[in-house]
Amino acid sequence: MTRPVVLITRRLSDAVQERAARDYEAVLNPEDRVFTKVELIAKCQDADAVLPCHSEIFDTEVIAALPDRLRIIANHSVGVDHVDLAAAKARGIIVTNTPDVLSDATAEIAILLMLGAARRASEGDRMVREGRWDFWSPAFMVGRQVTGKRIGIVGMGRVGQVMAARARGFGMEVHYHNRRQLAPELEKGAIYHETLESLLPVSDVLSLHCPTTPETTGMMDAAAFARMPEGSVFVNTARGALVDEGSLIDALKDGPLFAAGLDVFRDEPGGNPELARLENVFLLPHIGSATTDTRDAMGFRALDNIDAVFAGREPGDRVA
Ligand code: 8YV
Repeated sequence: MTRPVVLITRRLSDAVQERAARDYEAVLNPEDRVFTKVELIAKCQDADAVLPCHSEIFDTEVIAALPDRLRIIANHSVGVDHVDLAAAKARGIIVTNTPDVLSDATAEIAILLMLGAARRASEGDRMVREGRWDFWSPAFMVGRQVTGKRIGIVGMGRVGQVMAARARGFGMEVHYHNRRQLAPELEKGAIYHETLESLLPVSDVLSLHCPTTPETTGMMDAAAFARMPEGSVFVNTARGALVDEGSLIDALKDGPLFAAGLDVFRDEPGGNPELARLENVFLLPHIGSATTDTRDAMGFRALDNIDAVFAGREPGDRVA
């Protein structure tokens, strides 16, 4: 019996690639080269399943060019804004993601960004590293303490809930905005805000954990930043598209923001050079889920979804 062909677009962990090669005709990308749109379409022509990352864009044009034999786009990501879900659905192509398994790792990075921004970590690191640390006083490098402050969480899904739990460890008062209010056992005392407008003024730290949709794209604009408290900290581990980066830069230069911690940007890879010139930002290159444990778990979860499809079962993480 011929085995299904599974195209894995990027280099995944050894354990994941070994399992894929054990169970399928796995087509790997050992050089980890990012495919152009034309290459992506060409590579997909001989595949029964594709296991991409958020770096491969499955827009209307790519979906239209996929072969009829391709049954599933099994994303190695929880975010699926790189896939035109309506177009995939219209073609009968199943789309899945990898929820749950990256919540802890992403919340860890959000906490790192919160602390790094509030306590001026990159400014201090650069100063010591570059041999410019020639002075100390009690008034030197004073930052913001987060203990006991209010955190506003936008998107109280799986990652948002883990972030809330970690923030409670710092004695923070948790506020959140979500499409729906959570049940009390999930809310765990967090204060629900029906609108983003009402959440912003109580957010000494604001952390984004929502998906990018037409409604959320660009939601952190000049008006939104203006509603945040003076001296607040902004954290984004979700997607750069949620933020108008020009307005973020203005809020970092002229207030009300004290600092920002960012793992995601409008343009990736690369980021935003104008943001990078500011001292009061703590920046990371989209590594929210980049731990060995989580990368294995994400790859296995994507393969579980592929296994289900080829076994005639409904995959657990279907989003289209
Ligand atoms: C990954 C992510 O780095 O899951 C997501 O949506 O953005 C990150 O966890 C990436 O998508 C890996 O493919």
